[in-house]
Amino acid sequence: MSFTIAIDGPAAAGKGTISKAVAAHFGFAHLDTGLLYRAVGARVLAGADAIAAARALTLDDLTGDLRRPDVAQAASRVAVIPEVRAALVDFQHDFATRDGGAVLDGRDIGTVICPDAPVKLFVTASAEVRAERRFLELRENDHDVTRAQVLADVVARDKRDRERAEAPLKPAEDAVIIDTSDMSIKDAVAAAVCTVNQVRG
Ligand code: DC
Repeated sequence: MSFTIAIDGPAAAGKGTISKAVAAHFGFAHLDTGLLYRAVGARVLAGADAIAAARALTLDDLTGDLRRPDVAQAASRVAVIPEVRAALVDFQHDFATRDGGAVLDGRDIGTVICPDAPVKLFVTASAEVRAERRFLELRENDHDVTRAQVLADVVARDKRDRERAEAPLKPAEDAVIIDTSDMSIKDAVAAAVCTVNQVRG
């Protein structure tokens, strides 16, 4: 039996942490769909064509330092190309419908990839809070960045992700919104688990 949990939201809102914790709680598989776009973005930074890179993507491409800020921006840029998005649909569908349950996080999971998912969450937070979290994370991983740079990057990426024509970032109409601006990770995970339990009964 498949059971899909769709978790969308802007950059650095806590989707990844919440998705991992929810997947672990229910024993579901987890796919960070941003990694697919980051892998394509990384290939483009290395000189590849975006559409060809998306069509040739394999699991081996999902490793390496895909968390770099330049890769994040490249991911957001390739994500506006309809052919790139189309090339990544089947992989995401197959993952979502696997037996045993799946959590997918991204930007368009509840709206485009899995519009019939029984649970849809939209995890968000103010741009300042998100940028501060991402800044601390990047610094911890030895990336040489300033707070101002990270905030500018987050704002630029959100704008591009929200305003693109194809599968823009937005909550599905039936998504439950979780604003983590003033929440601890523990509370945000608890809110997500509670929402899932209400649906599963
Ligand atoms: O979640 P992330 O920050 O790793 O995502 C990187 C970029 O990939 C994001 O700015 C937009 C794109 N993306 C997307 O368009 N659709 C998704 N489902 C996931 C990510």
